[in-house]
Amino acid sequence: MKVDVLLGLQWGDEGKGKVVDVLTPRYDVVARFQGGPNAGHTLEFEGKKYVLRSIPSGIFQHGQVNIIGNGVVLDPVLFKEEADSLEKSGIDIKKILKISKKAHLIMPTHRILDAANEKLKGDAKIGTTGKGIGPTYTDKISRNGLRIGDILNDFEPKYNAAKAKHLTLLNALGFNPDLSEIEPKWMEAIEYIKQYELIDSEHVINKLLANEKSVLCEGAQGSLLDVDFGSYPFVTSSNTVCAGACSGLGVAPNKIGEVFGIFKAYCTRVGSGPFPTELHDDTGAKLRDIGHEYGAVTGRERRCGWIDLVALRYTIMLNGVTQLIMMKSDVLDSFETIKACVAYNVNGKEITDFPFSIENNVTPIYKELEGWKTDMTRFKCENEFPAQFKEYIKFLENELQVPITIVSVGPDREQTIIRNK
Ligand code: GDP
Ligand code: IMO
Ligand code: MG
Repeated sequence: MKVDVLLGLQWGDEGKGKVVDVLTPRYDVVARFQGGPNAGHTLEFEGKKYVLRSIPSGIFQHGQVNIIGNGVVLDPVLFKEEADSLEKSGIDIKKILKISKKAHLIMPTHRILDAANEKLKGDAKIGTTGKGIGPTYTDKISRNGLRIGDILNDFEPKYNAAKAKHLTLLNALGFNPDLSEIEPKWMEAIEYIKQYELIDSEHVINKLLANEKSVLCEGAQGSLLDVDFGSYPFVTSSNTVCAGACSGLGVAPNKIGEVFGIFKAYCTRVGSGPFPTELHDDTGAKLRDIGHEYGAVTGRERRCGWIDLVALRYTIMLNGVTQLIMMKSDVLDSFETIKACVAYNVNGKEITDFPFSIENNVTPIYKELEGWKTDMTRFKCENEFPAQFKEYIKFLENELQVPITIVSVGPDREQTIIRNK
């Protein structure tokens, strides 16, 4: 068997959580491959709403195994909070969730370093989620990190050595953090994690595949936040593209099957950084308002704009997307006209290849399409789609050269339309 990968093609918050939950019944295993509690994946069903940060979005369906892979960075305190609240909802989380021993630990000092880095950057700050993601991945790459497997023996000296390094750095930068409150909580959460099955997830996943089990790999963030290909330096610190599923789970490239690329029918971004199709006008405010575009975890206002097909073609290429999933189409239900950026004007030259820099020198070139002016939120099948919406889909498929196989028309699990291919 091969693994299927599901990932965001824009700047995150495309609706990955919802779709993983919808697709999970088709799979035996759901595995997260990168990121950490910077993610906020929202699921809605039976009138309830849940936000997941580190735990895979397959957790609410029945019978699947969920895995946190080696590419993930885990904050024990936030993980315990998330797991406790799932347990209160009746989920037997300790039975169905397994954690890779090679996943890295976010320490209290990583969060403080994240805040310190942002402060030192001043106006050039990234606008991170403040969860310690950058410093934890930095320690991983510079070979100073602590891994989940480390907690199983003689952990304290390893923790103290890593902490001492962080404190030396923080003190030199003029920060003197007080850890007296957070540290005992963190250590308690480390003990809590020992109640889970800590696994060599690369072996487990490859054995499952050898036994014909199906695996869905869940990405966090989006390809435009990828550390190599995103709008650097305004990115996250992991590889959010499909290749991240290989390195973040120990799955070989020739074991990748379907790649589901998720995008919103428009575009959003949280935090700083360039965003060519951003709208600073009433239309942007209308998208934010109707789409409830506020961060799932931080509550931060999301910047809104039109769909960017230059960027989407680029991320489809990077990921080898085989199926597209369009989210939040219903948010455009009341618009008279809809715009799609088909090319960029860069210094007077029209380009369609996503360039090295998308700073102020980029002016989007738009194609305008007629709106469908129909409430689609109760639609159950594609036959009900209005003609203008069918045109919009046809236009996008033509521009992107990949079929749109699922259309989402609302946040609920049920508001999902699977198209006939
Ligand atoms: P993720 O990080 O990719 O999982 O996405 P988020 O959960 O951060 O943000 C997506 C938001 O859109 C959540 O509030 C979802 O409940 C909501 N959502 C998902 N799909 C749809 C949809 O088709 N229509 C509408 N109106 N909302 C949706
Ligand atoms: P999900 O999985 C949207 C953004 C932050 C910031 C940049 C770096 O819910 O789609 P970090 O804390 O990772 O160092 O922040 O990345 N960011 C996200 N934006 N959705 C996310 O996750 C994000 N995770 C990080 O706002 O601009
Ligand atoms: Mg999100």
